[in-house]
Amino acid sequence: MTETAPARVGDTLKDDLSMAAGEVAGGPVGLTARPGGPLRGAAAAPGDKSISHRALILGALAKGVTEIEGLLEGEDVRRTAAAMQAFGARVERLGDGRWRVEGAGGLAEPAGIIDCGNAGTGARLIMGAAAGFPLTATFTGDASLRGRPMGRVLRPLGLMGAGWLGRQGDRLPLSLRGGGLRAIDYRLPEPSAQVKSAILLAGLGAEGETRIVEPVLTRDHTERMLRAFGAEVLVEDGAEGRVITLRGGQPLTGAPVRVPGDPSSAAFPIVAALITPGSAVTVTNVLLNPLRCGLLETLEAMGADLTIANVRDAGGERVGDVTARASPLRGVVVPEARAASMIDEYPILAVAAAHAEGPTVMRGLGELRVKESDRVALMAAGLTACGVQVEEEPEGLIVVGTAGGNREAPGGAKVSTHGDHRIAMSFLVLGLAARAPVTVDEPGMIATSFPGFTGLMASLGAHIDLI
Ligand code: S3P
Repeated sequence: MTETAPARVGDTLKDDLSMAAGEVAGGPVGLTARPGGPLRGAAAAPGDKSISHRALILGALAKGVTEIEGLLEGEDVRRTAAAMQAFGARVERLGDGRWRVEGAGGLAEPAGIIDCGNAGTGARLIMGAAAGFPLTATFTGDASLRGRPMGRVLRPLGLMGAGWLGRQGDRLPLSLRGGGLRAIDYRLPEPSAQVKSAILLAGLGAEGETRIVEPVLTRDHTERMLRAFGAEVLVEDGAEGRVITLRGGQPLTGAPVRVPGDPSSAAFPIVAALITPGSAVTVTNVLLNPLRCGLLETLEAMGADLTIANVRDAGGERVGDVTARASPLRGVVVPEARAASMIDEYPILAVAAAHAEGPTVMRGLGELRVKESDRVALMAAGLTACGVQVEEEPEGLIVVGTAGGNREAPGGAKVSTHGDHRIAMSFLVLGLAARAPVTVDEPGMIATSFPGFTGLMASLGAHIDLI
């Protein structure tokens, strides 16, 4: 496909699927990271996954044209692009990261089944958006997504008047019936930006004022982007937490979106540089929204040498260039209140902790057990296989660093990722600074959030190869 010839989203999705290496017969079965020299250089983080999903969904809900720059072209986001086309929007890829969405000002009933692949964000936000319209839609996903709880979104949507029928009650595949919604007043029982966003998107199509109380603050990209698309969203801090109010029936108008680099992806080269002796790596254009910066705060408390330069505004979000230099790290107790602002970064934090001096205590991690995999269990198993001392708790993980004159973790294991992209990247980073190579299985899954991960790491001097 050329830069200039627009292609329908179905074509690009097909190309991408054939690249899912793990699914190709006779394709590579794993990736191995080998310890080597220092990592040096600069690289741009891929587009933020959360903002990319939202740009496509709001573009489809809006009337008019939304041009997106820097869209993450990972598998998860491409599924959302295909879904928005199935719901009646016109979605085109104009070039690298440049996409155009022409929304009809609402969603229409899709003719086929909506397959969200591996993406919890895609599935939950699209269900919320679809619930606001008089349509029936059937959703499915890969084995991981089919195992994840959807009740957290279906319950509030049901209170608003949506209906559904799902496998095992609240699992995909499930069918959702939307339309005729009434606004609700809802206190979020779990700290989840996906649930908050699904209710807000449904609230757009509901009669009355939807009010959400958020006792624990979570990423606010939906609130910010709704405003950029012309909606009034009231955000106030109250005694019970943050209160978000949205009036139903507000029209959205297409708007340009510039997607900043994903801090959750930037985390991998940053931690790799911190734990690989002699390294200095700059990741440019990293989103610095305070509700996403928990990992950087934690690494600084561990003694990481991090500098943030060139801080600027990019389409309503703060971005900057983050430089990480190899540093002796010490274990810390991570405040539980910080969990929501670094929820996707615990696996890579556990790798940093494995190279620190003393224990790092991570608690309040209940949500980590219902991500793309049970990340608490998989980190504990993988670290143990790599010779790192770790203690697993029902909602926590304590990693005892291997430091004390010798900062390397032993490594030398083949780690099972259960198809979880962040588990795979975390253990590859561990392997770069371990005493012996580390191999991970299902390498194709990395493309769900970080296509080009191995190329970017190689450009910094890392040795990661297909086996
Ligand atoms: C996301 C919210 C988080 C995060 C996910 C992206 C979002 O999930 O783990 O990767 O874009 O809203 P929860 O809302 O389930 O915590």
